Amino acid sequence: MKQEEIVQKTVGFVKEKLDGDSSGHDWWHIYRVWNLAKKIQKKEGGDLYIIEMAALLHDVADWKFYADESEGLKIIHDWLINIEVQNIDIEKIIKIIKNVSFKGAGVKDQMETVEGKIVQDADRLDAIGAVGIARTFAFGGKFGNEMHNPDIKKQHHHNFEEYKNSKGTTINHFYEKLLLLKDRLNTNTARKIAEERHQFMEIFLKQFYDEWESLK
Ligand code: ADP
Ligand code: NI
Repeated sequence: MKQEEIVQKTVGFVKEKLDGDSSGHDWWHIYRVWNLAKKIQKKEGGDLYIIEMAALLHDVADWKFYADESEGLKIIHDWLINIEVQNIDIEKIIKIIKNVSFKGAGVKDQMETVEGKIVQDADRLDAIGAVGIARTFAFGGKFGNEMHNPDIKKQHHHNFEEYKNSKGTTINHFYEKLLLLKDRLNTNTARKIAEERHQFMEIFLKQFYDEWESLK
């Protein structure tokens, strides 16, 4: 099978898998990450095929949706075997997917390849700005988190367990992750795109607190 055909088949597979998700991890999140990754690749280089495949599949194995990560990874692995992706490429794609996620403020990122760095940047850009704000509130609602509660303190998560198990508010998630992302990007191209998106989140939060404070 030609690479183009493999990518197109994978689009169909992912659409079906993530169809109707309401947590901000739906097909349109993948569509945005896929296109952002292609845009970054034009400037930063790297193997476009590996980038596209990892971007398309990156959330199929998400830890938030499976009891353990290996379950999701197996689904991806089976798919890649099924469409006859070469073993060496399967390894590259899976390695990126394993390392793509943000795992807490105090947990270091470990992306090694340019392909991985680009996919991670694209995923992070979709977590900030207006779209990022919308996704965050969608996620919070879906998983039963409070929107804002001034009595609940912001946290700095030192390890993945702490981050994974915390049940903070959606507004606190901005401080625990979203506002940190601009300094956790890998490429200059993504850093440029992030500037406006980051500013927009700061404006949003200022307005949010101003409205809240005006009640006093
Ligand atoms: P990554 O893409 O680094 O794996 P996640 O899938 O954990 O990140 O998160 C993607 C998006 O889901 C976040 O950017 C945010 O919008 C939302 N999200 C994840 N965890 C939370 C949370 N605890 N509260 C609110 N939103 C969250
Ligand atoms: Ni994602």
